[in-house]
Amino acid sequence: MSNSISRIFRCLSHGVYVIGVSNGGKYNAFTAAWLTQVSFDPLLLALSINPSHSSWPLIKASGRFSVNVLNSEQQEMAAHFGKPALEIDKLGSVAWRLSPAQMPILDHALAWMDCEYSHETPAGDHLVVIARVNAGKLNQSAIAPLLYRDTGNMDGSSALFPESFQH
Ligand SMILES: Cc1cc2nc3c(=O)[nH]c(=O)nc-3n(C[C@H](O)[C@H](O)[C@H](O)COP(=O)(O)O)c2cc1C
Repeated sequence: MSNSISRIFRCLSHGVYVIGVSNGGKYNAFTAAWLTQVSFDPLLLALSINPSHSSWPLIKASGRFSVNVLNSEQQEMAAHFGKPALEIDKLGSVAWRLSPAQMPILDHALAWMDCEYSHETPAGDHLVVIARVNAGKLNQSAIAPLLYRDTGNMDGSSALFPESFQH
């Protein structure tokens, strides 16, 4: 049953991003799809993050994170950064550098943005973080962004929907 719920929710359009985080000399990054612009002025976006991720305490402590926009040829990158930092040093095997705000940015992403924590609100099993976008750059313009629906069940989400949902 949950498989068909996930097919309904895959009709919601999302991109796929790698969120770069750092604090106290530690660096990490994780894949996220639940990210969207929510204001022009000030320029704000919302990121929904599971607070059990290793990345969350680093965001909370530094008050910053980067957004790396993946392109349509970067499915493997999405899967790589979707693994927990407890298992591997995810940034150890990819080319990256520091953004102006000293957050990890991937050399081969479509674009990057530097974000500054504004506030958060609980959202069920996630937290929605509202962040100001202070800087960014488009690295490539001739290639399309990766779409969440094209990642299939890479995040294992088809097992996470409530059985009470009627469809
Ligand atoms: C395609 C895809 C989309 C994902 N979207 C999100 C998301 O929007 N929010 C989130 O908290 N985790 C999301 N995840 C899960 C995290 O990437 C995953 O749990 C990761 O292991 C967390 O890394 P960390 O523990 O090193 O911080 C997604 C994973 C994949 C593969």
